[in-house]
Amino acid sequence: MSRDLLRSGWKALESFTSDQSRGVPMPEVQPMFHGEPIVLPDTRPDSFSVSLGDAVARRASRRAFLPEPLELAELAFLLRSVSGVRQVIKRQGGGVVTLRAAPSAGARHPLDTLIAVFDVNGLKPGLYRYMPLNDSLDFTGRVPSPAEMTSACLGQEFCGSSSVVFIWTAVPYRTEWRYGPVSSKLIALDAGHACQNLYLAVEATGAGTCAIGAYDQELSDAMCGLDGTDEFVVYMAPVGKVRKAGS
Ligand SMILES: Cc1cc2nc3c(=O)[nH]c(=O)nc-3n(C[C@H](O)[C@H](O)[C@H](O)COP(=O)(O)O)c2cc1C
Repeated sequence: MSRDLLRSGWKALESFTSDQSRGVPMPEVQPMFHGEPIVLPDTRPDSFSVSLGDAVARRASRRAFLPEPLELAELAFLLRSVSGVRQVIKRQGGGVVTLRAAPSAGARHPLDTLIAVFDVNGLKPGLYRYMPLNDSLDFTGRVPSPAEMTSACLGQEFCGSSSVVFIWTAVPYRTEWRYGPVSSKLIALDAGHACQNLYLAVEATGAGTCAIGAYDQELSDAMCGLDGTDEFVVYMAPVGKVRKAGS
């Protein structure tokens, strides 16, 4: 049954009336701020550079993190590499569409990037949401512990000993509004693109990461304060400094 998720499903759209075609207003690109925006430091494009060839050649899943903090500028670079907005397009019917560092089916961008910060210079530990339209962080009011993170990741201890965990949540309606029954596959594909950008970007920061598909859905959603229906965790990736190749 679940193999059906992998199939195209596109034919089903021929007999499907989407909320978009019904004239239902487009869902918002991002939620409202919970607190005051936390502005991220500027990162010049050449501050973090590695050749694309080297980044691809060196990319690997890293699970042994050094007890060293990440710098806020490095975190800002990683967030922008994953979810940074390249262009904002005003729609005739109202609202905006964003084009970002990672692609998304129909530019619907159903994924939000949350970060659980444990050890980042210049940012207090806690759970933050990256707000792409403002290029800033929003503190959620939650402070997950490393032990909570390890439990949420089914006992994978390197998740709790990282400097920061990227947590991708899905807001499925952003994609369902247009693509209805094929949305789940599209959202899962989008998540792969986001995480791959992180895998490549960490190569320019002396850090490493590892995709996490094995996590406890209920614990992870509860840790992030999500309702588990309109928004829930779909993917994670802990990030921390790693030993340089050859050292
Ligand atoms: C969708 C997905 C889910 C994954 N989930 C986990 C995970 O929960 N725990 C883990 O240690 N590695 C996880 N990985 C990493 C893979 O184990 C890893 O990519 C694979 O062993 C190949 O190693 P490499 O990434 O270094 O090439 C996941 C990778 C992907 C793409």
